[in-house]
Amino acid sequence: GRVMVLMGGWSAEREVSLASGRAVHEALVSRGVDAIAVDLDQAGARGLGQRLIDERIDRVFIALHGRGGEDGQVQALLELAEVPYTGSGMAASAIGMDKVMCKRIWQGAGLDTPAFEVVGDLAAAREAAGRLGWPVIVKPTADGSSVGVSKVDDADGIESAFREAAAFGEVMVEQFVNGGEYTVAILGERSLPAIRIEASAEHAFYDYQAKYEAEDTGYRIPCGLADEEEGRLAAAARRAFALIGARGWGRVDFMRDAEGRHWLIEVNTVPGMTSHSLVPMAARAVGMGFPELCLAILKQTLD
Ligand code: DAL
Ligand code: MG
Repeated sequence: GRVMVLMGGWSAEREVSLASGRAVHEALVSRGVDAIAVDLDQAGARGLGQRLIDERIDRVFIALHGRGGEDGQVQALLELAEVPYTGSGMAASAIGMDKVMCKRIWQGAGLDTPAFEVVGDLAAAREAAGRLGWPVIVKPTADGSSVGVSKVDDADGIESAFREAAAFGEVMVEQFVNGGEYTVAILGERSLPAIRIEASAEHAFYDYQAKYEAEDTGYRIPCGLADEEEGRLAAAARRAFALIGARGWGRVDFMRDAEGRHWLIEVNTVPGMTSHSLVPMAARAVGMGFPELCLAILKQTLD
C-alpha cells in the first residue's frame, strides 16, 4: 500500500520538519516504497483527511516536529481514521511535548530531572531563578529544537530570556546542570549507542544554531563513558520513554553532572531525521544506514 510522509506543519520547528520529511521520503522511495510527501501546512487538517482517502493511504510516516504534529493532534486524527502511523500514540505524544508533564511523571518515578518552576510573568521568573539558583535555563514548556531557550547567568539576563520564551507560550525556569550533554536514541525495544554532544565554546549550550547550522558542533560516538555507566544511561532512557507511554522510536536527552549523575532533560517522540540529526547517527554506529532506519520505523506500523 501507499505511504504518506507527513512533514512541515506550522510549528516553530517547521523548517527542521521539512528537512526530516524530505530525507525520509527520499530514503523510502529509494527502497521502492510507494510514498508521497505531504506538507501538513499546505494540506490543512481537513485536506489531510481528504488526501488519506483520495490517495488510498495505508500508513503514515509522521515526520512532524513540535506542536500540531508531534503533540498528539495528528495522531488523534489518524487514530480516528484508523490509519496506522509511526511512533507514539496520541497520549504519549501529548505528554512528550509537554516538558512539565514529563518531568512530573519522571519525578514521581524517582528519576532525576532538574528542578523547575512554571512561571506566569517576569517577576515570577526572577523569583523562581532566585530559589533555583543561577545559572538557570528559561524555556517554553512545549517546543523543541531549543527554540526560545536561553541559559541565564544572572538577574540581568532574565527579562530578555523570559520574553523570548514567552513568545512560544507557557514558560518554565529550570536549574542548569553544568556538565556534558548526552542523547540516547530508542528504536523499538532497544536503545542505540549514546552520543555525547559538544557544542563549541560560542554556544552556551546545544542551541538551535549548534543543532542545525554550526559545522563545529562535536558528536562523539562511542560517547566515552565506561560500559557500565553507558548501560545505566541507556536504561534510564528506556525507562523515561516507557514511563510516558511512548513507543516505536524516539530520543531521550540528558545532562551528566560532574558526579556522573544523569539528569533527564526531555524526550522527543519524533526526533529530527535531517543530515545533522542524532538518531540517524546512532543507527549508523550499529551498521544501520538511513534508508534501513526509515524502513525499520515504518515497519513498526505493521506490528
Ligand atoms: N526536536 C528536534 C527535531 C529533535 O529533537 O531532534
Ligand atoms: Mg525536542
